Amino acid sequence: MTSGNREPRNIVLGVSGGIACYKAVELVRLLVRDGFTVQVIMTREALEFVTPLTFQTISGRSVATETFSLTQESEIGHINLADQADLLVIAPATANIIGKIATGIADDLLTTVIMATRAQVLIAPSMNVHMYENPILQGNISKLKGLGYHFMEPVEGYLACGYEGRGRLPEPQDIVEEIHGLVKKKDLVGERLLITAGPNREPLDPIRYIGNRSSGKMGYALARIGVRRGAEVTLISGPTSLRPPQGVRLISVLTAAEMRQAVLKEFSAATAVLMAAAVADYHPEKLLPKKIKRGRDPIQLRLKPNPDILREVGMRKNGQILIGFAAETEALVANAKKKLHEKNLDLIVANNVTEEGSGFDVDTNVATILDRKGGVHSLPLMSKEELADRIYDYLLALKNSTSS
Ligand code: C5P
Repeated sequence: MTSGNREPRNIVLGVSGGIACYKAVELVRLLVRDGFTVQVIMTREALEFVTPLTFQTISGRSVATETFSLTQESEIGHINLADQADLLVIAPATANIIGKIATGIADDLLTTVIMATRAQVLIAPSMNVHMYENPILQGNISKLKGLGYHFMEPVEGYLACGYEGRGRLPEPQDIVEEIHGLVKKKDLVGERLLITAGPNREPLDPIRYIGNRSSGKMGYALARIGVRRGAEVTLISGPTSLRPPQGVRLISVLTAAEMRQAVLKEFSAATAVLMAAAVADYHPEKLLPKKIKRGRDPIQLRLKPNPDILREVGMRKNGQILIGFAAETEALVANAKKKLHEKNLDLIVANNVTEEGSGFDVDTNVATILDRKGGVHSLPLMSKEELADRIYDYLLALKNSTSS
């Protein structure tokens, strides 16, 4: 099975001299966390803002600064730096460095490496709003875009120079997402994924609701990885504290009834449906118009069952691949197998929520994937993003086996 996880992992990060240099430190931290090797190159001006020691400590590699340093050249070498990069990122990129790249100037280590590399280049400008709007800079950006350089637009907001406007470096997390998108294999292009995530809230009175412990992390990881691999993603989400992944179409819902309505509306346009939501199985029979007052006597709640959304989709499916999730506390494989057949699914991802590193509100999962042919694939502990990759690998394998 091919893993969508085996992706280019070597980033060369060029840091030029802008106040947003401090954000580049966080960018390196996040990239290292995600398993990238990051080689930092700093321009002379960048050295005025942050010391190389900071980048060296975070990246775990010595920082390259000088073209003509004998030790650096023998240890890292500018052509070597250019060749080893799977992706060259310049963040923050000043007007000066963009001007130099656009006119072919290679007068320091970073510009020399940019000139010599055959890797993709991502440039994240950051500067004063008037500098950014200057037609000379805009002309340089257009020229470079025409040559295939990738750009991230600066964002609007307060600028260190005291101005408000477009010029801020995008948040490091967003730059990381862009990087993942550029290095990732785009093997889900053409897929329209419908993903559900998070819990439901079933209101009891104007103040209270019945909910569950789902954080939404698995569904959001599926959405994020789906976008990275080139799919169009619609995410139907119950209430979570998570930031919606870039590039997804988000539909926010509260109750299971709202989720059902949204899924039934969207599912015919989808090529695959992944139901990672912890759909509420019951809702209070009556929604009380006023707050239930505290009293001394026990009170009783009558709950009515909610429709099983996935089962309904399973009955109506028309070519879509259906993937369900089973959170179990016992007899994992047997229960999951039963759901796979009862709900007419193509795959089911089962996890024992009592196991360490698996289940609610953690970033990892220990899952077993079951298919209709009786295949039972037990996976080791991995991040929810890695698991999302594995699920898509199985989805693609399933598509290939049915089309061949
Ligand atoms: O709750 P259960 O373990 O049956 O959930 C298995 C799968 O069915 C999950 O993918 C869940 O999102 C989906 N489900 C649903 N509607 C329900 C209950 C569960 O779509 N009412």
